[in-house]
Amino acid sequence: MLNNKKIAILGVGKGVPEKVLTNSDLEKMVDTSDEWITSRTGIKERRICPDHICCSDLAVEAAEQAMQRSGSAPEDIDMVIVATVTPDYPLPGVAGIVQDRLGLIRAAAFDLKAACSGWVYSAACAFGFIRSGLYKRILVIGVDVLSRIANWHDRSTCVLFGDGCGAAVIGEHEGEYGIIDFDLGADGSGSRYLYIPEGGSRTPLTREGLEAGRNKIFMAGQEVFKFAVKIQSETLSKLFRRNNVAPEEVDLFVPHQANIRIIDSSAKRVGIPMDRVFVNLHKYGNTSGASVPLALCEAWEQGRIKKGDLVAVCGFGAGLTWASGIMKWAY
Ligand code: UT7
Repeated sequence: MLNNKKIAILGVGKGVPEKVLTNSDLEKMVDTSDEWITSRTGIKERRICPDHICCSDLAVEAAEQAMQRSGSAPEDIDMVIVATVTPDYPLPGVAGIVQDRLGLIRAAAFDLKAACSGWVYSAACAFGFIRSGLYKRILVIGVDVLSRIANWHDRSTCVLFGDGCGAAVIGEHEGEYGIIDFDLGADGSGSRYLYIPEGGSRTPLTREGLEAGRNKIFMAGQEVFKFAVKIQSETLSKLFRRNNVAPEEVDLFVPHQANIRIIDSSAKRVGIPMDRVFVNLHKYGNTSGASVPLALCEAWEQGRIKKGDLVAVCGFGAGLTWASGIMKWAY
């Protein structure tokens, strides 16, 4: 039986490692400069996990905060979805590890792999599961430890990435506000613009591949840049049209934090002024699956999102994939 109650984000949380890697630290590692990184990307520093911290550690920290803020006990959670491309192990998914560590005894658990769009994809899944009447409350985590899959010899990519996690509890809500709609999409013809060439079933990792760094992220930066600007404006405009929302009604736009030039151009194209766009990429760089929920959490913590605000989110990335959503903030 369809659930016709409002469905909303009930609480948000974050988990980031303490270690900061600045642009000037990177100057000592590869042939780059603070000036280049800042002017081309807007990134000033990023967080990096020490060797003993991995995906589930950040996920548990963020999830505990989101559960506490949403007033959720472990037995209230019906399902946990973890959006990540850097799980603790290649097999199994990390969601089960998180489920066990948090004592979510009733929860189903799975990972969702849609890279930087992953958390918005996962939030849409949670929304659908709850709307269907199957579940009431779902923990949706976006987390990545990109430092483990970044090629630290490739200056064109390593300066972009960082580690972090954001989480939200999504559930039935008695109030008047909640999630309104999502738009999800993919174009697999661009799958090789952003990928890890070796280590999968097509090309298992070889010694030569390891030495050449083909087990690390490869990105055709300019192709992804063009795709990002175009798709972000298209998916948001579609979502706004479908729900009779004018861009000027958006109180805060929380985009994927990949590059300030992408954020700037997309916001302009959509018609949202930059003072209504949340940016924290100068502190964290691109954290892939964590990017949108980490930004959403900080926006709320800083009082940039209040009850009743119209909030738009958007992710895009490897796949190629994209996902956007709009909601009226519920608390
Ligand atoms: O989350 C997934 C989505 N990913 C993205 O959204 C990333 C999208 N792409 C981008 O953000 C940009 O394409 C980059 C930031 C990756 C690169 O910026 P760009 O303005 O497209 O630079 P470019 O690749 O055209 O390179 C310009 C120059 C090149 O030198 P030459 O050939 O002009 O002499 C590069 O070798 O900058 C050089 N370069 C660097 N120089 C200093 C590339 N990386 C660096 C670096 N430091 N780190």
